[in-house]
Amino acid sequence: MQNTATASSKHGLAAGDASPPERPDWTIDQGWERYSTEEHGIWKTLFERQSRLLPGRACDAFVQGMAQLPIGADQIPDFRRLSDTLMQRTGWQVVAVPGLVPDDVFFEHLANRRFPAGQFIRQRHQLDYLEEPDVFHDVFGHVPMLMNPAIADYIQAYGVGGLRAQKLGVLDKLARVYWYTVEFGLVQQKDGLRIYGAGIASSASESVFALDDPSPNRLRFDLERVMRTEYRIDDFQESYFVINDLDELLALAQIDFAASYARVQGQPDYAPGTVLGSDQVFSRGTGRYHDAKRQGATA
Ligand SMILES: [Fe+2]
Repeated sequence: MQNTATASSKHGLAAGDASPPERPDWTIDQGWERYSTEEHGIWKTLFERQSRLLPGRACDAFVQGMAQLPIGADQIPDFRRLSDTLMQRTGWQVVAVPGLVPDDVFFEHLANRRFPAGQFIRQRHQLDYLEEPDVFHDVFGHVPMLMNPAIADYIQAYGVGGLRAQKLGVLDKLARVYWYTVEFGLVQQKDGLRIYGAGIASSASESVFALDDPSPNRLRFDLERVMRTEYRIDDFQESYFVINDLDELLALAQIDFAASYARVQGQPDYAPGTVLGSDQVFSRGTGRYHDAKRQGATA
C-alpha cells in the first residue's frame, strides 16, 4: 500500500484505541523537547527525500511558504515557532493533537484558524505508509500552504462549512471537496501542473505519480462534480482535479454550498476513475496502475 497520508480525511474516526485527551478540544502539548534523536532523524530522511522531489512539482505558493517558515531538515519543527510566523502572515496557529480527532473538534479548530497537527512521527519502517496523519504529513504537507492567504481563508471556510454540513447530513459531499483540493489538489501554473495538496506533497511516491504517471486522470475541478466523486483512501488517487489558480479556492470560500448540496443530493455518485463527457480533461489516464491492482486482487 502506498503512503497517501490519506487518513487525514478520516478525522471523524477517533484515533484507534487511544482514549480522548484531557482537554475537550483534544489538543496536547507538542512536547518538542521530548522528541528523540531518532525521531528528528526520521523527519530529516523524509524532509530530504521530498526536498529532492518537489522542485518543479510543488506549486509556487508551497515553495514560498516553506521558505518563509522555520522548517528545516534537521529537526521536527516546534509548533510554537511555526505559529508565530503563521500568525503574523495569515492569523493561523498549529496545535498538537495525538492523531485523528472527531469531526466536530476538527472543524471547530479550522473555523478558528487553528490547524490540528499530529504530534507523533511515523517509525522508520513506515516511511511510505501511515494510517494516521503524523507531524510530517501535517506540518510539511499542510503548513506551507497556510502561509497563502487564499488557502488560509479556504481552510477556515471549510471548518465553518463542516459544522454546517454535519447538521445538514451532507458531510460526505463536503469531505470530497476537501479531499480533492486541500489533500490531493493540483493547480495549473504557467509552467505546467503543480501540486498544492498536502497528501501529495508529503508523499514521495504520490508526488511523482500524481504529475508524471500516465495512469490517473487529471480533470478540471468542478464543485458539484467533485461532490459526487468517490475517492481512494488506501492508495493513489485515480483522478486528480485541477484548479486554475489558488484564488479559485478563495472564491469557493465565499460561496454558500447549500444550493450545490441540494442539487447533488440524491444524484448517483461517480467512481474514482470515471471521466464524464462534460469533464474538461487535462490528461485522460490509462488506468493501468489501478487496473493491475484490481486484477491482482482477483487473481
Ligand atoms: Fe492532511
